[in-house]
Amino acid sequence: MDVFDSKYFLYQNNQLYCEKIPVKEILEEVGTPAYIYSKKFFIDTYKEFDSSLINFSHKIFYAVKANFNLSVIKTFSDLGSGFDVNSEGELYRVMKLGIDSSKIIFSGVGKTANEIKIALENDLLLIKAESQEELITIDSIAKNLNKKAKVAIRVNPDVDPKTHPYISTGLAENKFGIDMAEAKEIFLNSGIYKNIEFTGLDMHIGSQIITVDPFVSAVEKVSDLFQKLKLEGIHLKHLDLGGGIGVVYNHEKIFSADEYVGAISPYIRNLDCEIFIEPGRYFTANGGILAGKVLYSKKNHDKNFIIVDAAMNDLLRPSIYGSYHQILPVEMKLNREKILADIVGPVCESGDFLAKNRAIIKPEQGEYLAVMSSGSYGMTMASNYNARRRPPEILVDGDSFRIVRNRETFEHLLYDEIF
Ligand SMILES: Cc1ncc(COP(=O)(O)O)c(C=O)c1O
Repeated sequence: MDVFDSKYFLYQNNQLYCEKIPVKEILEEVGTPAYIYSKKFFIDTYKEFDSSLINFSHKIFYAVKANFNLSVIKTFSDLGSGFDVNSEGELYRVMKLGIDSSKIIFSGVGKTANEIKIALENDLLLIKAESQEELITIDSIAKNLNKKAKVAIRVNPDVDPKTHPYISTGLAENKFGIDMAEAKEIFLNSGIYKNIEFTGLDMHIGSQIITVDPFVSAVEKVSDLFQKLKLEGIHLKHLDLGGGIGVVYNHEKIFSADEYVGAISPYIRNLDCEIFIEPGRYFTANGGILAGKVLYSKKNHDKNFIIVDAAMNDLLRPSIYGSYHQILPVEMKLNREKILADIVGPVCESGDFLAKNRAIIKPEQGEYLAVMSSGSYGMTMASNYNARRRPPEILVDGDSFRIVRNRETFEHLLYDEIF
């Protein structure tokens, strides 16, 4: 879905709307900076993926790390989604909504003993193990609890996802997963783990992958292992293909859900198991914006700077990954000068920028700008750096909107300090 022909954030009479509400109207009420999400985007995108997988027995586990606002999780839960969690905190959020624990799977390369215990006590659908030491730990905790732990092994298929190195996870050099040969040995000797039932095989090779080729290479390898295990008499119940499906931030040519499923189909068609997927970004990124207000513009030497009240603590992606986000005016002013400028926040770091050398219609003080495609890895990565309060989150649903998280108060900044 292209940011520029989005049905969810679009201009009408030179005003940016989220669904049927002018973004400016929301900002005048809640202030800036603020995250604004389109509920319809989440619903449509989920349904699109779900229907692409119609010919497969499948389950979707939304990766809540992308956007874990309770109202967002509830939106996916209402659609029948399961959830992929990566920590006790994410599990706490999902369980707070009363979601059935059999719809939750637990990922992560470094689960603590306490996290494993909680996963087992709550009878989650499965835990994904990423090392032999973790398997030994799961086995012993399950024994103490007198339970049989349901476990999938996450393999590292050593495939280059051709994405930013910080979000590549399926290369041999990455910390994630167990190498394929070792994983096979574990399955063949699974009898030594008396308190574990091995239910499946899992991979997740990285995030923001914009061509299907890396998925095809990885699925080919992993499905081959799946078949080989079957020949050895090990019949797993599911193959989890992870998340990682890329989205449009700029003008990337992206594959569709149908193309993704079509490309991997030959490898998963005859496995006779359930297919799991865990997208996060795909379901949320283009369903959200971060809006900020222009504080000042200035020229230092020959360089233009537009200083806004949204910063790296609100949206870390540009600073941490050099990520590109479209920046659009909330009110389109025609016949204005276009300039090249850095769009920066008030934090005292030169790494605090939302865009660099960007061609932009010169905004005036007090006008609003929208940082597009901010619905995932936005608020979940926000911090209180510079003692800035994290922004509110607003969920638009047709012609109404709700504040689904308030702007933090100053009390929030101090509540856990002992003085
Ligand atoms: C195990 C696992 N599954 C799913 C995801 C979601 O990835 P994405 O948001 O790229 O779809 C991640 C992201 O890091 C992950 O680590």
